[in-house]
Amino acid sequence: MNIILLGPPGAGKGTQARHLEEKYGLVQLSTGDMLRASIKRAEPLGLEAKKIMDKGELVPDDLIVRMIESRIGRPDCEKGFILDGFPRTVIQAEALDKMLADKNQKLDMVVELKVNEDLLVERVSGRFTCSRCGEGYHDKFCATQVPGICDKCGGGEFTRRADDNAETMKARLGAYNSQTAPILPYYESKGILKSVDGMLSMPEVFHELEKVLGVAPSCGCSCGCSCE
Ligand code: AP5
Repeated sequence: MNIILLGPPGAGKGTQARHLEEKYGLVQLSTGDMLRASIKRAEPLGLEAKKIMDKGELVPDDLIVRMIESRIGRPDCEKGFILDGFPRTVIQAEALDKMLADKNQKLDMVVELKVNEDLLVERVSGRFTCSRCGEGYHDKFCATQVPGICDKCGGGEFTRRADDNAETMKARLGAYNSQTAPILPYYESKGILKSVDGMLSMPEVFHELEKVLGVAPSCGCSCGCSCE
C-alpha cells in the first residue's frame, strides 16, 4: 500500500507515519527528516536547505523531487510506503505521479489530517526528540515516563527543532495554506482523498486512520464505529 499523509506542520503526520511503519511494515519517507539528516552530515544540499527551512519556506521542487526519487527506488519501498511531508506543491504531486507511473506503481490513498491552527502552534512548540534513537515526545501531550530519560532507548539527550518557534511557524503555516493546500483538490479529483480528525488523541487518530485505510482490526467496541 502506498499512501500520503497530508496536513499542516504539527498535524501529526510523523507521529502517525511511525506507528503505521511499526505496525504494518510500510516505510516512512519524510522529506523533512531526510533534509535534517543532510544538514547533520553537513552536506552542501543540507546546508543550502537549512537557510530556507529556518525561514519556514519550502525547499525548491527540483531538489526535493530528486531526493525522493532516489529514495523511492530502493528495494525496501517495494512493500509499500508512507509519504510524510511530500508532496508539498502541485509540481511535486505531478512529479510523484510520473515517478510512480514509470515504476508501474500507484498511490492508493491520500489522507489529510485536519487540525485547528491554534493547536498546531501548541503542538510544535512542545515537541522534542531523543537525540539517540529519534523517538518523538511532547511536553504536554506525550512526555517521557521518567523526566529526562527516553522511554525507548534510555538516552538522556533531547533536541528541539530550530523551526519549531511561533515566528517560523507563522511562515510554515503560510506556506502550507498557499502552496500545499492546493494539492487537496488535485487528489480529490482523482478520488483518492480521505480526511481524518487530527484533533483526537494519538491512539484515536491512529484508529481512524486504520479505518479509512481499510485495515482496522475489530476493536470490539460498541461506539457505532465502522470496525464493530
Ligand atoms: P517537515 O519536517 O516535513 O515539517 P512539517 O510538515 O512542518 O511537519 P512537522 O514535522 O512539523 O509536523 P507533523 O505533522 O509531522 O507533526 P508531529 O507528528 O511531529 O518539514 C520541515 C521543513 O523542511 C519545511 O518547512 C520545509 O522547509 C522543508 N521541507 C520538507 N519537505 C519539503 C517538501 N516536500 N518540499 C519543500 N520543502 C520541504 O506532531 C507534532 C507534535 O504534536 C509532536 O510533539 C507530537 O507528539 C504531538 N502530537 C501529534 N499528534 C498528536 C495528537 N493527536 N494529540 C496530541 N499531540 C499530538
